[in-house]
Amino acid sequence: ASRKLLLLPGDGIGPEAMAEVRKLIAAMNERLGAGFETEEGLVGGCAYDAHGQAISEEDMAKAMAADAVLFGAVGGPKWDAVPYEARPEAGLLRLRKDMELFANLRPAICYPALAQSSSLKPEVVEGLDILIIRELTGGVYFGEPKTITDLGNGQKRAIDTQVYDTFEIERIAGVAFELARTRRNKVCSMEKRNVMKSGVLWNEVVTATHKAKYPDVELSHMLADAGGMQLVRWPKQFDVIVTDNLFGDMLSDVAAMLTGSLGMLPSASLGAPDAKTGARKALYEPVHGSAPDIAGKGIANPIAMIASFAMCLRYSFGLVAEADRLEKAIAAVLDDGLRTRDILSDGMTEVGTGAMGDAIVEK
Ligand code: NAI
Ligand code: MG
Repeated sequence: ASRKLLLLPGDGIGPEAMAEVRKLIAAMNERLGAGFETEEGLVGGCAYDAHGQAISEEDMAKAMAADAVLFGAVGGPKWDAVPYEARPEAGLLRLRKDMELFANLRPAICYPALAQSSSLKPEVVEGLDILIIRELTGGVYFGEPKTITDLGNGQKRAIDTQVYDTFEIERIAGVAFELARTRRNKVCSMEKRNVMKSGVLWNEVVTATHKAKYPDVELSHMLADAGGMQLVRWPKQFDVIVTDNLFGDMLSDVAAMLTGSLGMLPSASLGAPDAKTGARKALYEPVHGSAPDIAGKGIANPIAMIASFAMCLRYSFGLVAEADRLEKAIAAVLDDGLRTRDILSDGMTEVGTGAMGDAIVEK
């Protein structure tokens, strides 16, 4: 099978973090014969500077043809005044839309060495490894009507519409059940069926999908507000959480804070399997942005980007053992006391972006 990667480093610290992933790809090709082929493209502000668009048609075509896309980060003050359609984020939105990336995966993993510096009690987060799956292309962020109207009496009315069709719930539930099988085999579905029709349908379709195709997976349901509370109270009760676009946005940010720095958080966005080959389109990116405040200083934490590459190994190429090894290498380097500035604490050794990447490659 081919292993074609498109690298879109983007702006700010995006290229600095991507450089560390390039080292890993080179090492895997040289030492393990991994056979990755890479192409490079421009996205975000740098693409606007080069051709007036946040991503060119040529690079879009490369993304559609790649087995996986690795995305750094986009944006920065330099492009605050560019036309709306060409703003840096437009590149990411175009990729998500054209590749139909409906499943957003955000793992919350707490590395043992960082459990002490979490915002929660160490016993609550130590060894935490959960996966939040957010529906990314439907729901209230896209539903019509979406309007603000003037009511004429000094009042205005804002309308957002939550819309979900059966097939949208079925396919995101399918991703959750399939991934649960590769983990601890548990899915918790979250909605608000007590007050929302979309919650009623969500619950129905997840239950039916489970019964028809995934009865071996343990399924539970929770109201999304209670789910937020349980995530903070005792997150280790969960394995995979599946939820809609809005609740997923919020719950994944809550879960992010269980684990420490923004510089540590990876993500994946997956599309539907190809009818012929079964391969999914996929884009992997750190949760953080372009961090203009530290760009160019060589101090950015590359772990979020490297951990995103680990997700790529696991979900796009089935290289599960290699993904495990890479995640263990990250944990081991942290155990050795190496820290970039964003996760530095007393008694630890401060290293820059390149030294952190080198240490992970060596492990
Ligand atoms: P940000 O994530 O870039 O930075 C927030 C804070 O976290 C900053 O103090 C930054 O230095 C720190 N930080 C982030 N990643 C880090 C890392 N890997 N290592 C060490 N420290 C790190 O978010 P902010 O400042 O709100 O946005 C900056 C720019 O990034 C904006 O133009 C924004 O639109 C864009 N952005 C892009 C995203 C993307 O490409 N997907 C996501 C979020 C923001
Ligand atoms: Mg968010």
